[in-house]
Amino acid sequence: MSVRHPTRRQVLAGLTGALGIASTQAPKVFATEIGTKRSLAAIAAEKGIKFGASFAVHELNGPRGHDYVQMYLRDARLLTSELGFKLATLRPTADKIDFYDADRLIEFAEKHAMQVRGHTLIWNDALPDWIKQASAADCRELLQSHIETVVTRYSNRVAYWDVVNEPIGPWDNNPGNLRGGPFYAAFGEGYIKRAFDVARRFAPAAMLVLNEAQTETHDDNGATFRDSLLGLLKRLKSEGAPIDAVGIESHLRVGAPHDFPTFAGFLSEIADMGYAIHITELDVNDTGVGGSISERDAKVAALYESYLTEVLKLEAVKVVELWQLSDGTSWMKDPATIAQLGLRNDARPLIYDDAFQKKPAWEAVARALSNAPIRSA
Ligand code: G3I
Repeated sequence: MSVRHPTRRQVLAGLTGALGIASTQAPKVFATEIGTKRSLAAIAAEKGIKFGASFAVHELNGPRGHDYVQMYLRDARLLTSELGFKLATLRPTADKIDFYDADRLIEFAEKHAMQVRGHTLIWNDALPDWIKQASAADCRELLQSHIETVVTRYSNRVAYWDVVNEPIGPWDNNPGNLRGGPFYAAFGEGYIKRAFDVARRFAPAAMLVLNEAQTETHDDNGATFRDSLLGLLKRLKSEGAPIDAVGIESHLRVGAPHDFPTFAGFLSEIADMGYAIHITELDVNDTGVGGSISERDAKVAALYESYLTEVLKLEAVKVVELWQLSDGTSWMKDPATIAQLGLRNDARPLIYDDAFQKKPAWEAVARALSNAPIRSA
């Protein structure tokens, strides 16, 4: 089944199916499932924006599976797996490959006319021990064989591949502030272009994305990540690396230093290099925010709206994805993450609460999408 990106006319019709089922008439699966026009995906589609979120396939068979699914049918047309396409899940050992989670995400998405982002083919973090301990030669072979195997299996059923995740890591003191790790050790910076070259060869119809975190804050850390990412993107562009889009993760925090007009200037520099921009993992951490639930939710909503309103002024921003849709399924509820990052254990980072009820942030995101200028696909 080929992935076809809708034309501007089809986008302006406000209705683009997930698998490029684009036409002047609303495809039944789209209209029936969301029921009302008040769907974030529908509001976004009218502006030429693809809207979605990360999706946890293990919730499908859980006690809250029905409510969880209805939330996505209403508001999402693009799904990302937090775990299923990662090396830690796909390759738990050197002689085993486990496609179970990835296959289930693809099946669910195709059943509901949604697209999939394959996150992520190569990352120097969250790796199984056997890869951390692999020789440089083995890592060079693995990069090629892993990408070839995975993107060939899904052919045109994955619309976007996060080919390389989070290549910047100033703490490793490498040239260009690149993150160290097995693939960096095996190739140097060259692992990045190599990964994109292999992905383009075996997934010619997919959009290839370089995904990065920590660029959003108006402080020294954010400036280091922005400057390092711009330098990397310029080098990759000059080397002809086949990168279609840059993923800006957008894990925001209430109370962090932000200057979104200045940040938008950084995004413009990326767009001026010819890259599309995807907001890939948006959520708002309310750790440290005092007050009542409604006061906390209001601050979270305000940050969603101010961030999206500013970044969506850029027509290069084509995709907006949240990192889950509901507080209860957020990565910020994982005990190990709470301990590691010093988070509150009752975080409310998303647009639905633990009972899948809309929060003020839902309306805030809807307003930002509704007020965004129209862009071409
Ligand atoms: O399922 C096991 C469980 O059986 C075991 O007891 C437990 C021990 O801690 O681990 C569980 O697996 C964890 C998994 O999340 C499911 O909760 C992994 O250890 C943990 O590493 C994994 O964390 C994920 C993390 O990426 C690393 O892959 C998060 O869910 C996921 O939200 C997070 O997503 C990343 C993006 O990929 C890149 N950008 C940042 C973002 C947030 O860190």
